[in-house]
Amino acid sequence: MKFAVTNRVPQSAVELLREAGEVRLDERETAIPRADLLELVTGADAVLTLLHDRVDAELLEAAGPQLRCVANVAVGYDNVDVAAAAERGVVVTNTPGVLDDATADLTWGLILAATRRLAEGDRLVRSGREWSWGMHFMLGSSLRGKLLGIVGLGGIGRRVAERGRAFGMEIAYHSRHPAPAEVEAALGAERMPLQRLLEEADVLSLHCPLTPETHHLIGAPELESMKGSAVLVNAARGPIVDERALAEALASGQIAAAGLDVYEHEPRVEPRLLELDNVVLAPHLGSATVETRTAMAELAARNAISVLRGQGPLTPVASQ
Ligand code: DGY
Repeated sequence: MKFAVTNRVPQSAVELLREAGEVRLDERETAIPRADLLELVTGADAVLTLLHDRVDAELLEAAGPQLRCVANVAVGYDNVDVAAAAERGVVVTNTPGVLDDATADLTWGLILAATRRLAEGDRLVRSGREWSWGMHFMLGSSLRGKLLGIVGLGGIGRRVAERGRAFGMEIAYHSRHPAPAEVEAALGAERMPLQRLLEEADVLSLHCPLTPETHHLIGAPELESMKGSAVLVNAARGPIVDERALAEALASGQIAAAGLDVYEHEPRVEPRLLELDNVVLAPHLGSATVETRTAMAELAARNAISVLRGQGPLTPVASQ
């Protein structure tokens, strides 16, 4: 078995692959240049890819007809042309489940930072500018009794909702399919059309995959529908939000604040957002814990090995 790994991944995953076959890997921490990527995958039976590797017909072609599995080390797989892979009989897998808690924790970091102005406060203290405690100094907004609106109640969305309950929030959600009744009951979650969720949510948190249908799901009209006091959080994929429209809504006070972990043209960020105090910006850290990244890489390795052994994928992507 020949494996290609497009970036440095936790050693335990590389060892799993080495026990099963031959491993070719690129040790870079940043995205591998396209030409090197195409060369690396040539002749591989399975490839472990990261979210910044574009897996398209060209890459599948470059790999060769022996390629049987693309194991994406991410739960999102908008970087993979799943139809082109299916046409060539290549199985695509992702890493659901193992990053739900880490991503929900990070989401809550953004919710708290945005509602309590933590990053803005940090900048103020570091600036050396004068400040003093005051009744009206840097007030944020409370969460108890407010409505947490979740778009996409999959594994991550559910964990975000659970944490919302612990903060005393009401939960509502929008998704294509209703969650199982026991999940709705456990979370006390009401399913709503997107328009109603936009109008009623105090905090709106996005956890849907990026697809042609969810591209710019939140644009100018949607932001206009939100409350002036509302906070928008995106730890899913950047292009789900029209970043220019968001900058405009934040600058004009149409919504109160935002917390972003992902960007429309990542790693580039809409310059106007950088000027605003009412947005908290994180560099795509959702799954960035040692434990989670190890679990993701190991799951991807097990997927690749299982496919090559003819035992089928452990976690094939939903659309395959
Ligand atoms: C994923 O797995 O899709 C995450 O965005 C990685 O942090």
